Amino acid sequence: MVDKATRPTRDPVSFIDAGGYEISVAAGLLTRAGEIAAAAAPAHRYAVVSDSNVAPLYASRLVEQLGQSGESVPLCTVPAGEAHKNRESWAAITDQLLAAGLGRDSAIIALGGGVVCDLAGFVAATFMRGVPVVHIPTTLLSMIDASIGGKTGVDTPHGKNLVGAFHQPSAVIIDPEVLDTLPVSDLRAGLAEALKHGAIADAAYFDFIASSAPLLLAEDPGKRDVPALNHVIEKSVRLKVGVVAADERENGARKALNFGHTIGHAIELLSGFSMRHGEAVGVGMVLEAAAAERAGVTDAGTASRIRAALESAGLPTARPVGPSVSSILESMRGDKKSRSGEIEYAVPTRIGVMAGAGAGYTVRLSDAVVAEVLA
Ligand code: GLY
Repeated sequence: MVDKATRPTRDPVSFIDAGGYEISVAAGLLTRAGEIAAAAAPAHRYAVVSDSNVAPLYASRLVEQLGQSGESVPLCTVPAGEAHKNRESWAAITDQLLAAGLGRDSAIIALGGGVVCDLAGFVAATFMRGVPVVHIPTTLLSMIDASIGGKTGVDTPHGKNLVGAFHQPSAVIIDPEVLDTLPVSDLRAGLAEALKHGAIADAAYFDFIASSAPLLLAEDPGKRDVPALNHVIEKSVRLKVGVVAADERENGARKALNFGHTIGHAIELLSGFSMRHGEAVGVGMVLEAAAAERAGVTDAGTASRIRAALESAGLPTARPVGPSVSSILESMRGDKKSRSGEIEYAVPTRIGVMAGAGAGYTVRLSDAVVAEVLA
């Protein structure tokens, strides 16, 4: 296998100002990740948080770069998968940092996908009442979503991300070449979040992804349309940065990013995490748009356009048959997006335009309408 960690940076680095921190994007950037992280988050000690899939591929060189001052750099590795984004993993990592003697003058480097970004970010938000975190996302989903905007947290049996904190990173370092080692099923799942970006804010971008999906997702990384994939990364990063800049704490515009997540979180949780987050969000977008169409909020045909785009990316468009309608509604009521027991939905009126822009970016849909589409 090619050791990607030793490849030089070939492309010029794109720097995206996220307001308070910089997101750098370039193929081969991983070779300079330690240097960039140390400049953005100067610290006496560093720890790298990763998972059992990513650490064997990319962690050793990063640890070596970060340890050049002679201080040891603990590598905290959690088993891969959403099922491990929990308080137990948070405690295990925190204990490892304490045992290694890290203090307030430390920084955390998150190397992995969405689970690692959320978990390592939450460790950083809480360790010694808060130390810096730098994200090095290694999945499409974490490059365009989880690493940006400062949401950190863990899941509980009651729901996803119910314990967490806002904690903005000091830098995000994106090397699109690491997607070469990502299973294509995970690349697909990341593309669902990119489609969501198009659906909530940019119809032309939505259509671009839908039409180029087969070329973005070629099984053989050598046959992928790399410029198109890079465009998706940069476009989605910029789009998310813009939304977060408008509303960091999710009091309004940021709620748009929750399109598909109300039903999506419930079916992801009830699947025991056998559905990937992006897959569940894709199904959630179809069902939420269908319910909003029935309620007269969303233009007819929107749900079928989303369904067709997901199909072009080989993503599921129907919910798993196992969970009952009432268990899904019950799970949604426990989601942190509900208010006074009422479930709120962020839905577009049509592709590229959100409903409720003047009213908190959410709408109420009756349980009866939602139950119809869930059934
Ligand atoms: N993933 C949704 C958000 O960052 O707000």
